Amino acid sequence: MKNRTHNNGELRISDIGKNVHLIGWVAKKRNLGSIVFIDLRDRYGYTQILINEENDVVKSIKSEYLIEVDGVVEKRSAPNPSLPTGEIEVVAKVINIINTSKQPPFLIQDDTDALEDTRLKYRYLDLRRPKMQNYLFIRHQICKATRSYLEPLDFVEIETPVLTLSSPEGARDYLVPSRIKKGSFYALPQSPQIFKQLLMVSGFERYFQIVRCFRDEDLRADRQPDFTQIDIETSFLSQDEILSLLEGLIAHIFKEVIHYEVKLPLRRLPYKEAIARFGSDKPDTRFAMELIDLDFLKNSDSPDAFKNSESIVGLVIKNQANNISRKVLDELNLTARKFNIHSFIAIKYLNQTLEGSFLKYFNDDLQKELLNKVNMEENDILLLANGKYRDAHFALGAIRSLYGKKLNLIPQGSHDLLYIIDFPLFQEDGNGGYVSEHHPFTRPRDEDLKYLDSDPLKVYGSCYDMVIDGYETLSGSLRIYDQNVQKKIFEILGLSDEQVRAKFGYFIDALQYGTPPHGGGAFGLDRLTMILSGTENIRDVIAFPKNLSATCPMTNAPMPVDDAQLEELGIKVIKKED
Ligand code: AMO
Repeated sequence: MKNRTHNNGELRISDIGKNVHLIGWVAKKRNLGSIVFIDLRDRYGYTQILINEENDVVKSIKSEYLIEVDGVVEKRSAPNPSLPTGEIEVVAKVINIINTSKQPPFLIQDDTDALEDTRLKYRYLDLRRPKMQNYLFIRHQICKATRSYLEPLDFVEIETPVLTLSSPEGARDYLVPSRIKKGSFYALPQSPQIFKQLLMVSGFERYFQIVRCFRDEDLRADRQPDFTQIDIETSFLSQDEILSLLEGLIAHIFKEVIHYEVKLPLRRLPYKEAIARFGSDKPDTRFAMELIDLDFLKNSDSPDAFKNSESIVGLVIKNQANNISRKVLDELNLTARKFNIHSFIAIKYLNQTLEGSFLKYFNDDLQKELLNKVNMEENDILLLANGKYRDAHFALGAIRSLYGKKLNLIPQGSHDLLYIIDFPLFQEDGNGGYVSEHHPFTRPRDEDLKYLDSDPLKVYGSCYDMVIDGYETLSGSLRIYDQNVQKKIFEILGLSDEQVRAKFGYFIDALQYGTPPHGGGAFGLDRLTMILSGTENIRDVIAFPKNLSATCPMTNAPMPVDDAQLEELGIKVIKKED
């Protein structure tokens, strides 16, 4: 095999007459009787090869054979404007097969109707598709831009352990059994949270890491069991300074990778306002369509479950009353009810009047007030949800997201970035206890410390999320650096002294050695790559992802292991899944 002179995306009209040597995979072979065309592919693009004489070698060439071609660049008689090399072709003098290929299980081209599990099974072939390669190039560029932004700001890239103890980020841990200490387990880190804080105790001041994290949780289109964070921690900076640093990084990434100018500073929307207006703590703010507080309807003669509910909220979908059939309404009802609301009600505005069976509970004045408040026009439909405040708002927030996409309300190619700030520190866990809204290391706002004992739900955290196009892309906070406050938070979360000692003793100890005030955050690299690549499927931007059942159709992981291996680890499997 000779070295190639050019890649397959490189040759132009200015190269006409050159002798070239190309290498690539056969994307397509067309036999037109006296002549044969081959589209030659590599990671840089396609070049058309013209063969005037079909010998035995040419005859034997099939799709995905790897070949090398000696030839001369000529002008194409029928140019292809959709290809950068579309004005030229290489007229072959010598063709040599470097390696043959089995017939691939699907056509390797951008438009494919192959099932995703088939593509994942033959991922190495799926990754030959230019679109897939592009996603991974974008991912690489994001990592490069991250390093080029952080390096001059004195950030140090430091690795932290993968075999470690659990760090609580709200999901189940993946466990790894120890052979040497039988019956004991490492946990794979859900994030390097505690380690990066310890690096601040050590005095590094500015840390980052592009790091693999592991969480055993229900998978969704934007979640993987192993995913990557751009993890950042700093000492001595205020929340404002950290927010500027993080938004500076994201603006740099957008500019370097997709040449998109992000306007800084980013808007900062308090959590409460995000829920009230959009029914979500990660609202897609590229379109309006806001929720409307309709608590005044509690004054109606409606059934008790309606008028006594904590919150009544509405959402108007413009110009859809005639398009939303009974069946669609039933589907929306199902979506809304996943959020434990009391009721879901639809009111249409047709022929200049409100229509809907629930209207019988609203007298004329109330109906007028309702019309005024929601500002409905002909053919609009108003959806009402009532129940607990969060439930009713999240239910309509979910429908808002659905219709934003369905009605194409999102301008193509636009992005909207904002911070959500002022999150509550805790949420109720449904059993009379509390869970952290962010994680247990988040610093309570100074002014709320006084409520820690009396009313934890009144305490807000010094934490923030960055939301991009409706995705939670970053989460971060200032951290507790006083061991007594940290102990108190663990106590509120229901951990006993012994549990705290066993799980976090080393960390609480470390906080006693002159810990600096510190804080940071972590971007989800996979989600960021999805956004910059314009795909809604996280698996597209990961070279070898898991499917929705958290398995890898290519390697078949996870798999049972040999009995001998289990014995060595001192493990007995009680129940095997088929
Ligand atoms: P958090 O748990 O919010 O915070 O994670 C930070 C960011 O990581 C991404 N992310 C995920 N991406 C893909 N699949 C998943 N399963 C997944 N889970 C999270 C999201 C999210 O915003 N230690 C803290 C950060 C900090 O406080 O510094 C943490 O891990 O984009």
